Amino acid sequence: MIAAKDGPGMAERDGKTPVGEGARDILASLPVLAYGGDYNPEQWPRTVWREDMELMRRAGVNLVSVGVFSWSRLEPREGEYDFAWLDEVLDLLAANGIGAALATPTASPPPWFSLAHPDALPVRDDGTRLTHGSRDTYCVSAPPYREACVRVADALAERYAGHPALRLWHVHNEYGTWCHCGHTEAAFRRWLAERHGGLAALNEAWTTAHWGQIYSAWDQVNAPRATQYLANPAQLLDFRRFTSEEMRAAFREQKAVLRRRTPSVPVTTNFVLGDWVPVDHARWASDVDIVAIDHYPSGDGRAAEEQTAMSADLARSWAGGGKWLLIEQAANLVHVDGRALAKAPGRMRRHSLSHIARGSAGAMFFQWRAPRGGSERWHAAMLPHAGPDTRAFEEVVEFGAALPDLAETDGSRVDAEVAILADVEASWALSQPGMPSSDLSYEAAIAQAHRVAGRAGHTVDFAAPGADLSRYRLVLVPSLYLVSDAAAAGLASYVESGGHVLISCFSGIADEHTRIRTGGHPGAFRDLLGIRVTELRPLPEGERVVLDDGRVGTLWTEEVRLAGAEATGRYPSGEPAITRKPTGRGVARYLSTCLDDEGYAAEFAVAAAESGAAPVLPGLPEDVEVVRRTSAGAAWLFVLNHAGTERRISGVRGRDLLSGKAVDGELALPGGECAVVRLE
Ligand code: GAL
Repeated sequence: MIAAKDGPGMAERDGKTPVGEGARDILASLPVLAYGGDYNPEQWPRTVWREDMELMRRAGVNLVSVGVFSWSRLEPREGEYDFAWLDEVLDLLAANGIGAALATPTASPPPWFSLAHPDALPVRDDGTRLTHGSRDTYCVSAPPYREACVRVADALAERYAGHPALRLWHVHNEYGTWCHCGHTEAAFRRWLAERHGGLAALNEAWTTAHWGQIYSAWDQVNAPRATQYLANPAQLLDFRRFTSEEMRAAFREQKAVLRRRTPSVPVTTNFVLGDWVPVDHARWASDVDIVAIDHYPSGDGRAAEEQTAMSADLARSWAGGGKWLLIEQAANLVHVDGRALAKAPGRMRRHSLSHIARGSAGAMFFQWRAPRGGSERWHAAMLPHAGPDTRAFEEVVEFGAALPDLAETDGSRVDAEVAILADVEASWALSQPGMPSSDLSYEAAIAQAHRVAGRAGHTVDFAAPGADLSRYRLVLVPSLYLVSDAAAAGLASYVESGGHVLISCFSGIADEHTRIRTGGHPGAFRDLLGIRVTELRPLPEGERVVLDDGRVGTLWTEEVRLAGAEATGRYPSGEPAITRKPTGRGVARYLSTCLDDEGYAAEFAVAAAESGAAPVLPGLPEDVEVVRRTSAGAAWLFVLNHAGTERRISGVRGRDLLSGKAVDGELALPGGECAVVRLE
């Protein structure tokens, strides 16, 4: 996760143009609503290519990602390119009116490359050097790798500049490979010298006096290797920051050569979500012409829908509210805990529409055709192994036919009155070992805030610490463990000038070097909240605490002393658990325990009402998702019924673009159905 920093979401704060606006021209090459998937014709004989074209046309496919892992096919020997097959594929696509998101294949260097450049293979923290045989096997800091990436990107751009199928550059695939080799170490030291200035500052920032880690020369500083016991948290955090920046630099190098040869073709890379990913997407967002995400929910049941909505809101926030693209999702399966569960009829459409409702310029999949072999032979595809005469493909065709009806929503925006303040660095810091409770999860805290606001019918943006929050009535701050002084001051001035905040436990604890702020928690927000926490009291496993008003706290409690705030909820001991303090023209609330969903929802309801934040529609039935999109002269309501039975939604008047039917005050949606109503 999380939200835009020096990226577009923050761009307004910096007085720059948000990506969604400034990038509009360069996005003209994209279909209004992109529909398609990763297309791997190199895995199939030519006879199949013809069938692919016919079936893609039948499905309404208009954009496919080509060549994502094709390096060994494109360059079978160093410097010897074989473009003939790709020429043919791109010509076929163009002839069939299908665009290409042409990939640079750098996520999977060929075997010859690994053998020629063993120093470009990644090294794990235990010193094991990996080798080819899978994918993503590269050291992003290795000069031979970086040079080869630029070379192959340039060769592709030279060859296909001006090709009618070329609509988008898809650089690499899901940047994310960790490396701890000598090249990485050298680059890390350079990055550290620039960030900290000198060794003395580094020692101070990393608190190296702890456990005798003081560095007296730069060459003693390593890319954190496996350690005997807990590693230095500030070093680990800086290494993640460095890895993100190093990969970003690699992306920019490729983007530069592509831009030079094809100035009007947008360039992106697909962001992958997950706490294993050493990439700060919010920071990267300003580098891509369109934010593109891959999304694979990991939960079944409603969790999958709520994860879908959250990832889409994240992507829109990274894109500064402008267009973004769901470039990968699974068509007919949800992969949960080692099982590939079939999506019930209509679920693929609902997931796709949830993304589109929240600003995606289309719905794309991994992958077009299910492969016969290879590691992902059992992954979902638009066209399953069984072929076109299947329910899954029929749904793909049906949805492809419906999409053009939604074209009129293009360019409209999603407005949110509630934001979640979120930061991947806080997440990285909170998930480190050696914390007071390993049960406290940043991801879970963020997901709860999003889920609860969503169930109450609110649309939510994500905002980065330090961003301009003035357009929001209410800002939720779930467990923002790490925060800089400047970002904390920004939040305080937001409240001062009328904003409302709901801050949850274990926020504002550490500075940007993961050093604990002393003098009482939550150091950075003590004055804003008018409290002083003198003791953290995580709960033993399975224990809960029932507050005086019946609300249930889990995982965590604190000893809270009031210093200007009033207690609005108390622990059984009578000590304050939930507090409220008016500050300036706004209000700051604090939750010192992890309330369960019901309890958090109650606090959210009070905070939202006091702030004036209104749901998209009042009285929304359970399991119904609504998003309003507006443009200068029109408004649309996306309504998704995730329940298995009919839901009636009142207060809706207009025409449903999907069914073509008029809606006169009440929308009756059968279980699993969706509507996109142009409002009157
Ligand atoms: C994505 C990746 C694809 C494919 C897919 C399977 O993360 O970009 O190449 O592996 O996952 O879910």
